[in-house]
Amino acid sequence: MTEISALKAGLIADIAAADTLEALETLRVGAMGKNGVVTGLLKTLGPMSPEERLEKGPPIQDLRESVTAALAEKKAALEQAALDAKLAAETIDMTLPADIGPQGSVHPVSQVMDELAEIFADLGFSVATGPEIEDDWHNFTALNIPETHPARAMHDTFYFPDAEDGKKMLLRTHTSPVQIRTMMNGEPPIRIIAPGRVYRSDSDATHTPMFHQIEGLVIDKGITLGHLKWTLETFLKAFFERDDIVLRLRPSYFPFTEPSVEVDVGYTLINGQRVIGGDGDAPGGGWLEVLGSGMVNRRVIEACGLDPDEWQGFAFGTGVDRLAMLKYGMNDLRAFFDGDLRWLKHYGFMGLDVPTLSGGVGA
Ligand code: PHE
Repeated sequence: MTEISALKAGLIADIAAADTLEALETLRVGAMGKNGVVTGLLKTLGPMSPEERLEKGPPIQDLRESVTAALAEKKAALEQAALDAKLAAETIDMTLPADIGPQGSVHPVSQVMDELAEIFADLGFSVATGPEIEDDWHNFTALNIPETHPARAMHDTFYFPDAEDGKKMLLRTHTSPVQIRTMMNGEPPIRIIAPGRVYRSDSDATHTPMFHQIEGLVIDKGITLGHLKWTLETFLKAFFERDDIVLRLRPSYFPFTEPSVEVDVGYTLINGQRVIGGDGDAPGGGWLEVLGSGMVNRRVIEACGLDPDEWQGFAFGTGVDRLAMLKYGMNDLRAFFDGDLRWLKHYGFMGLDVPTLSGGVGA
């Protein structure tokens, strides 16, 4: 074996034995680097005579080519092995449950508003809104509430300082001004509900200075108290998800409805708990007031520029918070607005369970 072929065999064996990219690089520098053995041999070719070069050149060129090829091949093999090892070490287990983090829930007031909007949508009502900062004309005057009415008093209503144009601004005390705004801005027939925040100067276990109401308004031709009764009965059955809801209509008084009707639902005592449903006059039963309503007063229809001989309708207003308390069994209204996360976790909703008229009754 010549010196060169021995060198070649030794280098190729070393390259084959290299087990890391770093070891291979050390071998490369030792052979092909500036001062490497192969580079040294190549340099000897320069000063040779053409005849000598013709004789000694080919084995040296062959050495260079063989070592270069062996280095490249081994490098590719080591890189592939490194990649395989990395892929094996970094696999992701797709079957592991993901960490979904803290989850919120729907507040009972939002839930009940959604439920009411769904139920009334099925009855052909759309949702209307109005400002929470109202003027006293929309909140009182147009609703036939006289200057002397106690609801207008400072100790019941939150007023703003008088505006420059003389308008008396206040925090609306009910959602009824949305009736006025809807009649003034649109054409009958009208079928709307108006959910929203209202404000009164009141605070105890069953009253908060801010609470929620839903107003309902229907204006059309030939509307009677019968339509009102059917609508309320249908809505309350769907809302409480019971077929055995019994209503009691009591004559009442609101300046903006005539006649006015307060509506109670019957409850039954089951294990000492009031459960909505059944005849309130049955032994152990009773009645809970749930809403105020009536036929829209002619004066209100007139104040909105409509002819009360042509257009009639009914209106109702109910407390959303109170409905939520009755349906879901909470007893302190103040807890609704404390923002206590433990309360929200307990009473909150996932947001997908909303009864509709078809899904709610008897479901
Ligand atoms: N606005 C009345 C209240 O807040 C409720 C109501 C609305 C009564 C519509 C009759 C008609 O008590």
